[in-house]
Amino acid sequence: MFRFRKAIVSAVLLALAGAVTAQPILKLAGLGRDATPKEVAAWDIDVRPDFKGLPAGSGTVAKGQDIWEEKCASCHGFFGESGEVFSPIIGGVTPKDIETGHVANLITPGYPGRTTFMKVASVSTLWDFINRAMPWNAPKTLKTDEVYAVLAFMLNIGGIVPENFTLNEKTIRDVQARMPNRNGMTTDHTLWPGKEFGGAKKPDTQNVACMKDCTPEPKLASFLPDFARNAHGNLAEQNRMVGAQHGADTTQPEPKVGEKPAATPTAPKPQTGTPATGADAGKPDAKKATALLQKNGCLVCHGMTNKIVGPAYTDVAKKHVGNVEYLATKIKAGGVGVWGPIPMPAQTLSEADAKTIAVWLAAGAGK
Ligand code: HEC
Ligand code: HEC
Repeated sequence: MFRFRKAIVSAVLLALAGAVTAQPILKLAGLGRDATPKEVAAWDIDVRPDFKGLPAGSGTVAKGQDIWEEKCASCHGFFGESGEVFSPIIGGVTPKDIETGHVANLITPGYPGRTTFMKVASVSTLWDFINRAMPWNAPKTLKTDEVYAVLAFMLNIGGIVPENFTLNEKTIRDVQARMPNRNGMTTDHTLWPGKEFGGAKKPDTQNVACMKDCTPEPKLASFLPDFARNAHGNLAEQNRMVGAQHGADTTQPEPKVGEKPAATPTAPKPQTGTPATGADAGKPDAKKATALLQKNGCLVCHGMTNKIVGPAYTDVAKKHVGNVEYLATKIKAGGVGVWGPIPMPAQTLSEADAKTIAVWLAAGAGK
C-alpha cells in the first residue's frame, strides 16, 4: 500500500515537472499582478560598498548630534559607548588605524571587546543599516538627510571626521578612505573562498535541498561541551572595557534547544496581589492586557519574563504588587531611574488601556 502510494506521488511529481518545463512561467488566471515600479523602488533601497543605490542628500555633524540625542542615545549611549542594549558602536580605534586601515585592537591579546567601528569595513554598510533598521523602535522613519547627519555625528565622535564636516553622497567617498578597518576585510576563508583557497573552491555551505530521509525539523544549536562550561568563570561578565557585551551565562547549565535560559534560580514566584477590593480596580484580564501590549509595541522593549530594553513584566509586577494607580500613570508618562539609566518614552495609548495593563501587572502579570 505504502509503496503504491509512493509510486503515485512520484508519477504526479513527474507530471508536474513536465508541465513546468513546458511552460516555465506559471501564471494563474485571476491571481496576483506584477509589482509596479514604485513598489519595487520601495524595496530596492540597498546601498553597496561602491555606493550604488545611495540617494543624494547631506547632513552636518551638528544636526546629527540633535538626532542622535533624541533618537539613538537612549539605547546606544551619548557617545555610542553603551553596551546595555547591544554591543557598543564607537570606541577602540586609533588615528594610526585610520592611517593603516587595520584596527590594531582586533588582534591585541586581552583587548576586551569589539565595537562596530572596530569591525565595519565599508561606511556604506552603516548608512544602509541605519537607513533600513534604526531607530530600532521606529525603523525607516529617518529622512535621507537625517541618515547622513546622524552618521556624520557618529563618524565625528569616532574620530574619523572633524566637527565641521558635512556628509553627502560625494564626501562619503573620502570617508571610506579613512574607515579604520577598511583593509581588514578578507575573503581568504571558505565561506566566500578567496585567494588562499585558490579562489575556485566551493563555499563551505552549499544548501543542497534534502529530498530523501530528511530530518523532519532540523534544530541548530551551538554550545560548549559540559566539561568546558564553567572552566573560566562566567564569560558573560568578563568583557567590559568599552561597555558591557552580551554573552551566555556559563555558570548555569546549557538550556535545552528551544527552551528559554533558566531564570535566576532563587527568584520567588510572582505574588498574586489582591487589588480587586476597590470598586473601580477591575479584574485582571491577561488576554486583553497581552493583546494591548502587542498592539502598543510594548513588547519591543519588555519581555514577559525577560529584560530587553526595559524590565521583564514579571519583575515589574513583583515590584509594584497592587499598585494600579502608580502603574497606570507610569505606563502613560514613561520615566527613568527606577530600573536603570535607560528611559522609557511616554506612551500614546488611552487611559483605559493603560489601566487594563496596570490592573493585570498589579495582580502579578499572570497568564
Ligand atoms: C530602542 C533601542 C534602540 C534605538 C533607539 C536605536 N538603536 Fe541602534 N541598535 C539597537 C539594537 C538592539 C541593535 C542590534 C540590532 C540587530 O542586530 O538587529 C542596534 C544596532 C545598531 C547599529 C549596528 C551595530 C552593529 O555593530 O551591527 C547601528 C549602526 C545603530 N544601531 C545605529 C543607531 C542609530 C543611528 C540610531 C538613532 C537613529 C539608533 N541606532 C537607535 C537598538 C536601538
Ligand atoms: C522604547 C522602549 C520601551 C517601550 C516601547 C515601552 N517601555 Fe516600559 N519601560 C522601558 C524602560 C527602559 C523602563 C525602565 C524605566 C526606569 O528605569 O524607570 C520601563 C519601565 C516600565 C514600567 C515600570 C515603571 C516603574 O516605575 O517601575 C512599566 C509598568 C512599563 N514600562 C510598561 C510599559 C508599557 C505598558 C508599554 C507599552 C504601552 C511600555 N512600557 C513601552 C522601556 C520601554
